[in-house]
Amino acid sequence: MAHDHTDRYFPEVPMTAPTISRLFSRGITRTLLTPHPVEHYVRSLGVNWSDDPTGATVVAVDRPVADVTVITLRLPAGVDRPAPGAALEIGVVVDGVVQRRHYSPVDPATRSDGLATIAVRRHPGGVVSEYLWSEAAPGMRLLLGNPVGEVTLPESRPTDVLLVSGGSGITPMLSIASTLVGEGHCGDGATGRVAWLHYARRVEDVPFRDRIRELSRAGVEVRVVATSDPDPTAPSDPVSGDLVGHLTADHLDDVAPWHSDATVFLCGPDGLADGLADTLGADRYAEVLRERFTASTGPVPEGDGGTVTHVRSGVSAHNPGTTLLEGAEAAGLSPKHGCRMGICHTCTAVRVSGATRDLRTGEVDTEPGCLVQICVSAPVGDVEIEL
Ligand code: FES
Repeated sequence: MAHDHTDRYFPEVPMTAPTISRLFSRGITRTLLTPHPVEHYVRSLGVNWSDDPTGATVVAVDRPVADVTVITLRLPAGVDRPAPGAALEIGVVVDGVVQRRHYSPVDPATRSDGLATIAVRRHPGGVVSEYLWSEAAPGMRLLLGNPVGEVTLPESRPTDVLLVSGGSGITPMLSIASTLVGEGHCGDGATGRVAWLHYARRVEDVPFRDRIRELSRAGVEVRVVATSDPDPTAPSDPVSGDLVGHLTADHLDDVAPWHSDATVFLCGPDGLADGLADTLGADRYAEVLRERFTASTGPVPEGDGGTVTHVRSGVSAHNPGTTLLEGAEAAGLSPKHGCRMGICHTCTAVRVSGATRDLRTGEVDTEPGCLVQICVSAPVGDVEIEL
């Protein structure tokens, strides 16, 4: 099965290395090559993976705070940086399996040197974040996919902008705020206003505090708010201001007393979103532009999970109730996918038999032969899936 798609897409083309390079340079990208990772084809031609013209090259790595890897990438020629707020799809090969995740560059849209900076927070058990924390180094090659992002800074800039973020949500907000500052949107003599509330467990765990201070000096009303009790021994940080704890109406009024007319961007965990919704009320919250880089899913109910049989590959594996995508990857497969959060439908596969739970809604579906998004579906009992 592995080569079916190759035959279909390139029936007449001799697949030499120069041919692949020409296809890439014409914009015929990995989309045509899925479900197989690019290096599968490149390697099958005997071409060194480091010569692949579509990947990104790591040019600098920094680990400025605990558990955060800041990576500066050189994008290949012809690849545009994503719009402020959107994310790049980055792929790495770990234990022979391609793993892809989305990271939002922190740079302003005006950056024109072909570089992009991403920050990867290390999660316990996070395959990609752990790998990059321990392995990322200048010269490393990374796979690049298509940019994703539901929410980006509109071409026609809103006059007043309020950014609200938590945790890893700092990165798209940095890009948006930096872009606005670079365009002279706020600060002395400008007609626009930009404010930003960022929440973190501890201020000292927040990367890019120097950049945040620069944004503050350039006219962004910014506060980094510690949600846990401040450490009395930690050095005070001017970006933290006087605000502490979880989001309240006072926080909004402190940083942006004009927020009722502002365009509000949100990127952060569900708890932060719930707090903002409670504070603004349902009607106003419905206008908030929320960026997600992970699916919003509930806990796995007790009793979920089962044996998943991937009928095309013939691989069966126990799945403890995680997504069918993660289960397949853990079993050594590389299913086609994009956003990993139920948006793009790239991962859709036929559930031949069994029941699956949509982890976003909790609903269980049992109809045989149905298409399911494997990135947000988990088995409830034994399942056969067309992978
Ligand atoms: S990967 Fe995008 S919907 Fe599943």
